[in-house]
Amino acid sequence: MNFIVFGPPGAGKGTQARILGEARGLVQLSTGDMLRAAVAAGTDIGKQAKDIIEKGNLVSDDLVISIISDRIDEPDCADGFILDGFPRTVAQAEALDVLLKEKAKTLDAVIEIKVDDELLVERITGRFTCAKCGEGYHDTFHRPMKDGICDKCGGTEFSRRKDDNEETVRSRLEAYHEQTSPLVGYYGGTGRMKSVDGAQDISSVKKQIEEALAGL
Ligand code: AP5
Ligand code: MG
Ligand code: ZN
Repeated sequence: MNFIVFGPPGAGKGTQARILGEARGLVQLSTGDMLRAAVAAGTDIGKQAKDIIEKGNLVSDDLVISIISDRIDEPDCADGFILDGFPRTVAQAEALDVLLKEKAKTLDAVIEIKVDDELLVERITGRFTCAKCGEGYHDTFHRPMKDGICDKCGGTEFSRRKDDNEETVRSRLEAYHEQTSPLVGYYGGTGRMKSVDGAQDISSVKKQIEEALAGL
């Protein structure tokens, strides 16, 4: 099964894609994670993306489309994948339809995670991630069971994203409302889209997504 999770910054796309990917044996494909890895590695793509990400704007459609197209060809995607943060514009959604057709793959579901802007700022400014395994945490909503130690891997180093400050979050929200929310219209008529209430706790959101997937 291949599906999309989309929603504003901090909605829980990464959290849910990670949990559902593990539960269902699907690969999580986060364009944000891929771009941050490219920035950290100092590749050409990373150099092109760095300033744009730090300002909270979207990188070019062509860049992310080619990253995703190459990634989907890798063998681990054969059993299915969850797109997290892609597509993010109608042009990306159109390109995705074309490339899935070329690769003889299907898009089985589109899940929209809805959350109000004010809660998103709180979610994002409190976020931190295990530097070793990538498990996501939150200062208030999702702390490790033992302070300073990752529940998943026992790692003791954590990182915070450079674009997780209030000013950049506002630009990311603006980009979402202007450029990404039109995806609701794009996918709304296809019969494959379901919206879930992302303001509930992590396990309730997971349950809603599973019910949505079962009903499609
Ligand atoms: P990206 O990395 O995709 O960032 P984003 O869309 O801004 O989303 P986030 O990763 O911030 O949030 P999330 O929804 O994954 O939330 P999370 O699960 O972490 O993109 C970054 C940048 O890369 C973009 O700004 C752009 O520049 C570029 N880019 C990426 N893709 C692109 C594309 N396709 N086209 C162009 N440019 C692109 O949760 C947030 C926090 O809340 C965590 O701490 C978590 O523990 C907590 N939390 C999660 N769910 C809940 C819950 N239900 N209750 C309480 N707390 C919760
Ligand atoms: Mg994310
Ligand atoms: Zn860890």
